[in-house]
Amino acid sequence: MPRAGTVVLLAAGQGTRMKSAQPKVLHEVCGKPLIGWVVEQALSLDPARILVVVGHGGAAVEAVVKAGPGAERITCVVQEPQNGTGHALQCCLPHLGDDPGLVVVLYGDMPVLAHDSLDALCEIAAELEDEGLVVLTAWPEDPRGFGRIVRDAQGDFTAIVEEKDCDAEQAAIGEVNLGVYAIPGALLKRYLPKLTNDNAQGEYYLTDVPVLAAREGKEVATVELADLDEAIGVNTIAHLAEARWALQVRILEQHMANGVRIEDPATTYIDADVTIGPGTRVLPCTVIRGGVTIGANCEVGPFTHLRKGTVLKDGAEVGNFTECKNSTVGEHTKAKHLSYLGDAELGAGVNVGAGTIFANYDGQAKHTTVVGDRAFIGSGTTIVAPNTIGAGATTGAGAVVTRGAEVGPDEVWVGVPARRLEARGARNEEDAR
Ligand code: UD1
Ligand code: MG
Repeated sequence: MPRAGTVVLLAAGQGTRMKSAQPKVLHEVCGKPLIGWVVEQALSLDPARILVVVGHGGAAVEAVVKAGPGAERITCVVQEPQNGTGHALQCCLPHLGDDPGLVVVLYGDMPVLAHDSLDALCEIAAELEDEGLVVLTAWPEDPRGFGRIVRDAQGDFTAIVEEKDCDAEQAAIGEVNLGVYAIPGALLKRYLPKLTNDNAQGEYYLTDVPVLAAREGKEVATVELADLDEAIGVNTIAHLAEARWALQVRILEQHMANGVRIEDPATTYIDADVTIGPGTRVLPCTVIRGGVTIGANCEVGPFTHLRKGTVLKDGAEVGNFTECKNSTVGEHTKAKHLSYLGDAELGAGVNVGAGTIFANYDGQAKHTTVVGDRAFIGSGTTIVAPNTIGAGATTGAGAVVTRGAEVGPDEVWVGVPARRLEARGARNEEDAR
């Protein structure tokens, strides 16, 4: 069953502290833009629609979300000017429809928030029906910058007070608002028009919606985050690195749970959207970018860089200082030392000698090289693409196989530029003449 009817992603803020011309939510973490992580959070609640509130760099943000997962459910709503989080939701009102269901509000800059926390939020909201709403809270070591959760003597919610509006007593409160809510559409429609901008920042605060609801006797429930990493909001490049580490740990743990043997998680970088089969060993100082597929019982690393479009078939081994891009490495094929595999299709059982380069780029376009099963590429070979190396063929150490040379099956080519070495029998016939 869907957990939310509508999810609203707030992403209109400028993100000045990133010191970057790029819109904040388009900065990447583990190969995926911040907004991509948050769209994934939204989709995990299976809502009928997702509204992305955009402002600064809105067209660029829209282009990215419209090219990603769940695009058919996503509508971008332009908020111009940005008059606060409450105003952002007011801009969404015309898009909510007659029955928006439960509305979940997320921030475009909180990529680490986990599905289980959102699920807990929605579960409580479902129990309250239209009689209450739910706020996500936390007790960070340093509450600075957050709105504080104010409770009465019974411990019931009474208000969220922004730091700039806090008196000394309120500023000392340790429980903070994370800005993530589950609010029935009916309550949102009732309270959003009643917001005022009578506060220190002259903005329309979404935080006043729970306050107005509590005043009318509605229940305001809270869910407290257990893992504070989930609360990381990215406002600076340093925060981006914090979020990266938290998400990296999650990705590595998932692979290990699937039977991937990661020897040293601290020096292993694996992006989102990477598939790895069980029994594969990933050795230290390895970087695996998004869009890579690795089979079972492979060996990757140490010091290996696998880029988008790389496919390692079962049992393949790619090792020390080897980089692969948009290449297929066949079953039990080995490229263990100091090589560049760019736009290469290697069959099964191929041996790629140390220092082999697939020269795929001629300065204008990228070209493909196809290598047949069991070929033996000698150390230091350069193969200029486009090219074909037949099954069972051999190249000598240091050979430069020029563009389009087409080495036939079982042939032996050596030298610079590489020439076919005649079979011994043929050479003898020549000698005999
Ligand atoms: C907000 C909360 C605060 C909470 C904090 C958690 C309000 C009034 N305050 O404060 O209680 O502790 O988040 O991080 O809501 N945005 C828009 N349009 C706007 C303003 C903001 O889309 O007009 C978006 C931003 O891009 C951002 C999010 O809303 O993703 C939060 O905005 P921000 O200005 O960072 O709010 P805070 O002042 O941090
Ligand atoms: Mg903020």
